[in-house]
Amino acid sequence: MDVLLVDHPLTKARLSIMRDSRTDNASFRHALHELTTMLVYEAMREAPLRTEPISTPVADTEAYRLADPPLLVPVLRAGLGMADQAHRLVPEALMGFVGLARDEETLQPTPYMQSLPPDLTGRPVFVLDPMLATGGSMEYTIRLLAERGATDVTAVCALAAPEGLDRLRESGLPVRVVTAAVDDNLNDVGFILPGLGDAGDRQYGAR
Ligand code: PRP
Repeated sequence: MDVLLVDHPLTKARLSIMRDSRTDNASFRHALHELTTMLVYEAMREAPLRTEPISTPVADTEAYRLADPPLLVPVLRAGLGMADQAHRLVPEALMGFVGLARDEETLQPTPYMQSLPPDLTGRPVFVLDPMLATGGSMEYTIRLLAERGATDVTAVCALAAPEGLDRLRESGLPVRVVTAAVDDNLNDVGFILPGLGDAGDRQYGAR
């Protein structure tokens, strides 16, 4: 499984704002927006292009268009904070939605919503979720996508735990991961260390 670590002074600086427990909800959301732009920019680096002839005001030349715009799939709640920014950067993209809440006791994802195109054959998919912890939520989401024929899935995460990466690797699902950091490990209640806390709560408040 490919893991692209987007390691840049600006990603480090924005992620540090998100990690800092003194950062308020609005500043957290703003830093996540900026980080998402950088992650999606890198995730799109190998996207295939098609060309077509155009004319500038002074000469004929070739224009580049995205050959296969991705489907963006934010995982609610926390992934909502990445959706608009990703869509702004890739306006050609389609958008689907998956809603999952992780049970705090069992750490299992409980689905409460999904809105996805029925056929994803040949369509690249970017799953947007700030956190890859145990990997249960991401694995669940990728299985939903694979059932619809997706074979080219990118998990775009602000940060990942080694346990979550191992789980995705062992799942054999067709996924690569783009992340700004791989942290140390999970604690005994499934939080990433050092992490940033709960990305949903830090954007929208505790439920
Ligand atoms: C968090 C996070 C991921 C998931 C990661 O969501 O945004 O979706 O947990 O954990 P996992 O890798 O162990 O599955 P949460 O369930 O807290 O819901 P929220 O986004 O609504 O806050």
